Amino acid sequence: MGLRISPSILSADFGHLVDECERVSGAADWLHVDVMDNHFVPNLTLGLPIVESLIAQVTTPIDCHLMISDADRWAPGYAEAGAASVTFHVEAAANPRQVARDIRAAGARAGMAIKPGTRIEEYIDVIDELDMVLIMTVEPGFGGQSFMSDQLAKVRTLREVIKNKDLDVWIQVDGGVSVKTIEQCADAGADTFVAGSAVYNTQDPVAAIAQLRTLAETASDSSWWCK
Ligand code: DX5
Ligand code: ZN
Repeated sequence: MGLRISPSILSADFGHLVDECERVSGAADWLHVDVMDNHFVPNLTLGLPIVESLIAQVTTPIDCHLMISDADRWAPGYAEAGAASVTFHVEAAANPRQVARDIRAAGARAGMAIKPGTRIEEYIDVIDELDMVLIMTVEPGFGGQSFMSDQLAKVRTLREVIKNKDLDVWIQVDGGVSVKTIEQCADAGADTFVAGSAVYNTQDPVAAIAQLRTLAETASDSSWWCK
């Protein structure tokens, strides 16, 4: 089955961002760019001008994870800039359905992210407007945190819904994904994996991606939801 590894550049060297992105080109399916506004989350990273510049200079498609307030206003701009995928937080959107439509209309895949404290059940009816749901496996805001395995129940619920309805919606996990945790994620139903420190805090990011991919492939091939 097809799955995707999306290294998060939050753990890369921000002084050499383009070089850091190109280090994983050919190995990564996407590059995960964490946009934080110091309002929706207590951290500040980068915004649209830097994302535009990365899109222009980097060969790997950009997977934008917007941890910003007022997604309704700001999310479509990242799609217009040429990001392959734009994910907004449901907690930051007044009208999630409309945000997803706007992202798609601007030419990107639409993703919706859910914080650990948010129930997935309330948003199941939005899924048909989406290309991906991101289940956060840490509190959003920082790299290098411990994986929250209790969030995998949401991944399982979502996978059941997607399977029953025969939808083509990807399930992404983000936060604490590593060689120790990626198999549980794949087994629960995730098919798109963000890894920051597990890729960039290693000597060989390309080898780290290959190892993560092999573990995820093997786990999903023997999982309940792939059968
Ligand atoms: C956290 C970000 C993640 C972060 C993951 O809010 O959304 O993308 O970079 O970092 P690791 O993989 O180190 O937990
Ligand atoms: Zn992220």
